[in-house]
Amino acid sequence: MLLLSGDWHCFFKRFQSAIFCKQKKRHLNTVPHVFTLFLDCSAAACQSRAEQPQSAFKLLEIDDKYKIMKPGDVVIDCGAAPGSWTQIAATRTNASGAKSHLPKGTVVSVDVLQFHPVAGAITLGGMDFTLPTAQEKIRSILAGKQINCVLSDMAPNATGVRLLDQENITRFCYSVLKFAVSMAAANSNLVVKVWDNAEVPKLEADMLRFYDNVKRIKPRSSRSNSSEFFLLGRGFKGTEKTGN
Ligand SMILES: C[S@@+](CC[C@H](N)C(=O)[O-])C[C@H]1O[C@@H](n2cnc3c(N)ncnc32)[C@H](O)[C@@H]1O
Repeated sequence: MLLLSGDWHCFFKRFQSAIFCKQKKRHLNTVPHVFTLFLDCSAAACQSRAEQPQSAFKLLEIDDKYKIMKPGDVVIDCGAAPGSWTQIAATRTNASGAKSHLPKGTVVSVDVLQFHPVAGAITLGGMDFTLPTAQEKIRSILAGKQINCVLSDMAPNATGVRLLDQENITRFCYSVLKFAVSMAAANSNLVVKVWDNAEVPKLEADMLRFYDNVKRIKPRSSRSNSSEFFLLGRGFKGTEKTGN
């Protein structure tokens, strides 16, 4: 539903601003002009709809296979905009309480971009997850509750320099791992997106210090020619057992 309503919102925004621009240029005085704008904006909205589920399928595939979220869970979604992972997390944890016979979950989603609210989730737009302010905000929202699943689909803006981009996404993964370790419930799960690079084996080894099992996952919906894959850590051991 959200995907569709998001498209309509996107469509109306584009249409509204296109009309506004044209009016400013005093070109919009005939019906055919309005009709052309309508078609252009519909195409743009369809394109955004085509892009959005691509992300969603990756998480659906991971959760369907590994059951990383369940009703009542506390989930943090890092790099959440425009919100399809958040929507899945909210549904799978029953964050809106729609299923009254099941425990109600909590989903907190963060993105450096502003994004639309997602039913049942707490959305924090305009926040850089890697900064202490964002992580403190999440801590204060959770008020002592431990986290059952941390998701990160965060991706830095590509610089065009592959090594730098890989370094940046690996830095994101470490930021998410450190945060997860400080707030995770026993047996909880972690999913981080990474672009393959020489640092990944070290990242996997570091995750293994805290999680019983760490797995590389390349969802079918992830383009085969991209270096993207996900690391799934399952069974958080707790910091005492690891001695960290
Ligand atoms: C692939 S998109 C996420 C798509 C999202 N999972 C979904 O299903 O809608 C990656 C997101 O990471 C966000 N991002 C990049 N750097 C970030 C940061 N430092 N803090 C929070 N979000 C960040 C981007 O703004 C972008 O929205």
